[in-house]
Amino acid sequence: MSTNFLNLSEEQIALRNEAGKFAQEQMAPQAAHYDKLAELPLEILKKAHSIGLLNLCVDSELGGSGLSVFDACLVIEELASGCAGMTTSMVVNDLALIPILLAGTAEQKEKFIKPIAEHGKLASFCLTEPGAGSDAAGIRTKIVKDGDYYIINGQKQWITNGGVADQYTVFGTLDPDRKHAGICCLVVPGDAEGISRGEHEDKMGQRCSNTVALTFDNVRVPAGNLIGSEGEGFKIAMKTLDMSRPMTASIALGIARAAYQHALNYAQERKQFNRPIADFQAIQFMLADMATGIEAARLLTWKSAAMLDRGEDSTLYSSMAKRFAADTAMQVTTDAVQIFGGYGYTRDYPVEKLMRDAKLMQIYEGTSQIQRIVIAREILKGQ
Ligand code: CAA
Repeated sequence: MSTNFLNLSEEQIALRNEAGKFAQEQMAPQAAHYDKLAELPLEILKKAHSIGLLNLCVDSELGGSGLSVFDACLVIEELASGCAGMTTSMVVNDLALIPILLAGTAEQKEKFIKPIAEHGKLASFCLTEPGAGSDAAGIRTKIVKDGDYYIINGQKQWITNGGVADQYTVFGTLDPDRKHAGICCLVVPGDAEGISRGEHEDKMGQRCSNTVALTFDNVRVPAGNLIGSEGEGFKIAMKTLDMSRPMTASIALGIARAAYQHALNYAQERKQFNRPIADFQAIQFMLADMATGIEAARLLTWKSAAMLDRGEDSTLYSSMAKRFAADTAMQVTTDAVQIFGGYGYTRDYPVEKLMRDAKLMQIYEGTSQIQRIVIAREILKGQ
């Protein structure tokens, strides 16, 4: 399939090839092993960091790779074709640092981004709670100002990298009755007293990305750890998600592309009725829909990323890209399992893992249903 209709530059192609090589040589061969083990291979993430494949959107002066969102998407699609679980952990590092990039002061960026990005440490984005998933403004984690400090009490759920992070970007509320207007964003060091980390969740897919619950029990952080102003936290979270959703869409694209490639190869090798099954229209139609879905998802993803890089409002397109790429990954991986038949339903072939990995794309960073809400609100705005 053509992936250079936009005339990617030589640098972009080289970057994409480097990420693809890393994904196929370092990640893919280990993917099934770490999926079974349900453990994050920190040494692979360290290697990725050493060649600039972590902290993709963080400015180079702050220790990141300084990529545009568009270029980050090129890299992420490749990485995810190797292993979506590892890629989620890598991309969540950007997600955790974006609020500081978008709303932090120069001093806060030096203090909270540089040490993480320069040394390949991990960070987590802590928004979701046991009782507040889709309804992000319904969070209950309590923040109280105490002189020059904030005190945090509450629980966070499904926190990617939560068990291994050196720093947390935490959203809490000064007063739940104020809904959006009460939400604040605080940076919390991983070694702050009062943080407890739950067990790594036993997930269906993306099993190696570290996912835990966190409890904050009278955790004190200096007032200088507040990102933006009091009450600005909800908007910071939403702007962060606008920026990260094309990157998440790229994870879905990587999963879909890997499944499509496996199915395409298998359909040409596997013989039934004395012919390769690719000769049958039933299989051809599935392959045709898979290829079309992937191309369309990539176009939406690239469009939303380019809009962000131009400084345009991308809420609508970021949600379209995330929704469409996630649903495409689910459909493509389901069809890939179908093409493999009984073999595809076993762990001996890679499409089974890809189908499990795809399911999470419709759930995290805003479900496909939440994306539709955002899309509908945006297109009806001002009508
Ligand atoms: N940019 C800037 N401001 C925004 C915004 C955006 N994209 N979206 C909303 N706002 C502003 C609104 O303008 C409004 O401002 P005013 O109060 O000044 O009018 C305010 O925020 C409230 O907006 P809404 O009324 O639209 O808010 P809502 O409560 O109806 O919720 C929602 C909107 C889109 C459903 C939101 O709750 C949402 O995105 N939910 C999904 C949460 C989510 O994606 N969680 C993922 C967690 S991270 C994760 O999964 C990562 C991981 O670990 C892998």
